[in-house]
Amino acid sequence: MKVTVFGIGYVGLVQGAVLASVGHDVLCVDVDQSKVDNLKKGLIPIYEPGLTPLVEENVAAGRLDFTTDAERAVNHGDFQFIAVGTPPDEDGSADLKYVLSVAETIATHMQTPKVVINKSTVPVGTADKVTQKISETLQTLSKSVEFSVVSNPEFLKEGAAVNDCLRPDRIIIGTSDDAVEEKMRELYAPFNRNHDKIIVMDVRSAELTKYAANCMLATKISFMNEMSNLAEKLGADIEAVRHGIGSDPRIGYQFIYPGCGYGGSCFPKDVQALIRTANAIGHKPSILEAVEATNYAQKDKLFAYLSDFFNGDLAGKTVALWGLSFKPNTDDMREASSRRFMEMAWEAGMKVQAFDPEAMEETQRIYGQRDDLVLVGTKEGALKGADALVICTEWSQFRAPDFALIKSSLTTPVIIDGRNMFEPERVEDKGIAYYAIGRGRSV
Ligand code: UGA
Repeated sequence: MKVTVFGIGYVGLVQGAVLASVGHDVLCVDVDQSKVDNLKKGLIPIYEPGLTPLVEENVAAGRLDFTTDAERAVNHGDFQFIAVGTPPDEDGSADLKYVLSVAETIATHMQTPKVVINKSTVPVGTADKVTQKISETLQTLSKSVEFSVVSNPEFLKEGAAVNDCLRPDRIIIGTSDDAVEEKMRELYAPFNRNHDKIIVMDVRSAELTKYAANCMLATKISFMNEMSNLAEKLGADIEAVRHGIGSDPRIGYQFIYPGCGYGGSCFPKDVQALIRTANAIGHKPSILEAVEATNYAQKDKLFAYLSDFFNGDLAGKTVALWGLSFKPNTDDMREASSRRFMEMAWEAGMKVQAFDPEAMEETQRIYGQRDDLVLVGTKEGALKGADALVICTEWSQFRAPDFALIKSSLTTPVIIDGRNMFEPERVEDKGIAYYAIGRGRSV
């Protein structure tokens, strides 16, 4: 089947490559010429495990191509995926200007019937706006071509995007049109093995499903972070509590890991956007507001522990920082907890010596050259001459460190662990002070 994907970001590129890998003929379109040129040469703009070979194989097989030519792109696919960004605008609402501009482009060039698919995370009511934009544009151009707008939100996780997309838990299709439903079922048939993963619902419910899923997951995390703060003050261990409650299948073990706050391009943005949507219809979303406020405060914790250890005497000190990306297996720094930590440390007159397996280039791009930031090629190198070690991201290579080396490298051996990677007793037994989230030491 012929598929066009607008927007070569995380979602668009992974979705395009995965659709090509099951035999569809996919053309991805983006306004960024250099991105398109690089992709044609096999240079992938993001770090995502498994994506490079998938793109290379499908480009070589002639099933996946990239272009900036919107007219060619519209005329290519019977299915037109919209996977462009929806960044937050000044008040935190999702900004739809890119989505609506793609809708206009599709309407301008389409000559045959199209199924237009919203893959981007968009507020409830966006499919109606896309429909309206296409209809208006067609009218202005005195054209009459059939089309239907479907909501088909994406649930992939960065770092596991290829697998999530190849083996989805569910495929949500928002449409009330039986013929369009049938076409969507055919498109997704290769992913619908073993049991029926396709869930069809009306368009608005599909749009809300995406926000509800991300907000529910963000709620679990903020809830656990709140519990970890209580555990600290009450002399309990949040890790024991996590095991205790996760064993109840109604709660489950997933997404109840306390930490230094959730980041990434999705949870912070989507929680905010749903709050704005609720406000716009006169509803006060108390739970979502608490989720956001708790997360905001949680991102200050690492600095608070550090300040506690040094009794506020931080100016002139050097901190080793392990982990910059918002989570492991990605180079994405959007809303990463490391950013708040570094900014607070700099404000306090500290120097940061950081190491991350993938995100150092991105850190350099964001912060540029500055005297108080040194990016070091190894985790051991980052420790040299530092006073303390702070861990922001749970990369697997941090899980079994050489504690003797940490102790001998740091002038005042202390680890501040934002991801609860070690047993406190084990670290303290090595003569290293250890702060973790909700595990004894309280601030
Ligand atoms: C999230 C969702 O998990 C995906 O299902 C969704 O498709 C995606 O957003 C999206 O809307 O595009 P992602 O942002 O890639 O995926 O990352 P997650 O693995 O969900 O992690 C988000 C943040 O939560 C990270 O900072 C992570 O460290 C934090 N987290 C996660 C915790 O603090 N505790 C946990 O127990 C789990």
